[in-house]
Amino acid sequence: MHVLTILDHPNPSSFSAAAAQHFMDGAKAAGHTVELADLHAENFDPRWSMADIDAENHATVPPDIQIEQDRIARADAICLVFPLFWWGMPAMTKGWVDRVWSWGWAYDQLDNPDQSLQRPRSGVLLIPTGARSNEMEADGYLSALDTAWTKGTFGYFGFTPRKLEILYGSKGSPERRKALLKQSYNAGLTLASPNKM
Ligand SMILES: Cc1cc2nc3c(=O)[nH]c(=O)nc-3n(C[C@H](O)[C@H](O)[C@H](O)COP(=O)(O)O)c2cc1C
Repeated sequence: MHVLTILDHPNPSSFSAAAAQHFMDGAKAAGHTVELADLHAENFDPRWSMADIDAENHATVPPDIQIEQDRIARADAICLVFPLFWWGMPAMTKGWVDRVWSWGWAYDQLDNPDQSLQRPRSGVLLIPTGARSNEMEADGYLSALDTAWTKGTFGYFGFTPRKLEILYGSKGSPERRKALLKQSYNAGLTLASPNKM
């Protein structure tokens, strides 16, 4: 498969960047080809703008969005890597999702969250968090994110299967971080094929 990894972190030495690299190494070890979209390094503009609204009304697609959509068109699997910020996506990922996966290109209805205009792609969300798993589960954050993302967002994009791979406690000990990087590698190594339509 061809695997596209979207990284959202300004620091090339961050844990998130290391997680993305380990995921890609795992995917390569499984025989896949890999491609990285490093949104900060590439200066992606996450602001939803009038050009995006015009595009929805069948004018031309903004050139920066065309580049992202061409990347997606090449991919059989997509992995988004971003740190959990305020129990949600950081602004860069949020803007990338808002602008790139547009109405009329990714989806054209809101009744069926499993129906997309895009062909099926294997989808992984690889998310470093400050919180530990017990904190996220006990307080209901995990089920809230699962509902918002797994159920309410990524089906519209054609991600099937889709997997929430949380890297809990990524600010923890060196041993913990090493185990989380191994988890990232394994997520790439065991990447599922897209489900058939
Ligand atoms: C602005 C901001 C908001 C954050 N919000 C959360 C949060 O809601 N829940 C959580 O578990 N961690 C939160 N964190 C911690 C980050 O998820 C953590 O720093 C990150 O996983 C570490 O990865 P990095 O070293 O690649 O930055 C937040 C961090 C920042 C800077």
